[in-house]
Amino acid sequence: MNDTPHFTLDGEDLAFTPGDTVLQAATRAGHYIPHLCWHPTLGAHGSCRVCIVRADGRAVAACTQRATEGLEVQSQTDELQAHRKTLLQMLFIEGNHFCPSCEKSGQCKLQASAYAVGMEGPHFEEFYPDRPVDASHPALLLDFNRCILCELCVRASRELDGKRVFAIGGHGIGTRLLVDSASGRLADTPLSPDDHAAAICPVGAILPKRRGFAVPIGQRRYDLHPISEPQPGDDA
Ligand code: SF4
Ligand code: FES
Repeated sequence: MNDTPHFTLDGEDLAFTPGDTVLQAATRAGHYIPHLCWHPTLGAHGSCRVCIVRADGRAVAACTQRATEGLEVQSQTDELQAHRKTLLQMLFIEGNHFCPSCEKSGQCKLQASAYAVGMEGPHFEEFYPDRPVDASHPALLLDFNRCILCELCVRASRELDGKRVFAIGGHGIGTRLLVDSASGRLADTPLSPDDHAAAICPVGAILPKRRGFAVPIGQRRYDLHPISEPQPGDDA
């Protein structure tokens, strides 16, 4: 007798392991649900809401919703794609995202997710916030203009690297990524280019120095395989 529990995703039967979230089970089965603040090596954060799905009719975050036997989940509906597009458009206009001149172009989850949901423009008026660039670290660049406040670097530094290089401060539209050093400069933290926190940023906010355009635009990860398709050697 097969006791493996199942739920349905857009009508397709998917097996899951008890304790799985919908996003974990879907990802393992090779199905893409857009997401930005979730990474398979860290617990769910539930903040970006780009992973919105309907579970038995309720709008929930797929990264926090537990898979349960018989749960009926919808993800690829026009309604949900429209919600995701609006959320992504707001992320674009709240920061300064100039894809054609960004070293992360073609490897950026914000850009790739926008393509995946059919976003063709910002829709809202851009804020063009005045944000700094911290180039103090010898090996890493921190560009606050591109930060989408997913907190992946904050959590990776704390939970995977055993450090506390980053933090989040402020409230509402004033929420900011902070560098946790007395000077506030990245150079005065123990961040190493080998740290998980240095590599986990889904956008171009934390970048290695002196490796710009090593892979030409047009030949990068999401240029070759849209984010909605399985990525060679990747699980997120
Ligand atoms: Fe997320 Fe990158 Fe901003 Fe850190 S720097 S909060 S990883 S977008
Ligand atoms: Fe689920 Fe961000 S990935 S809320």
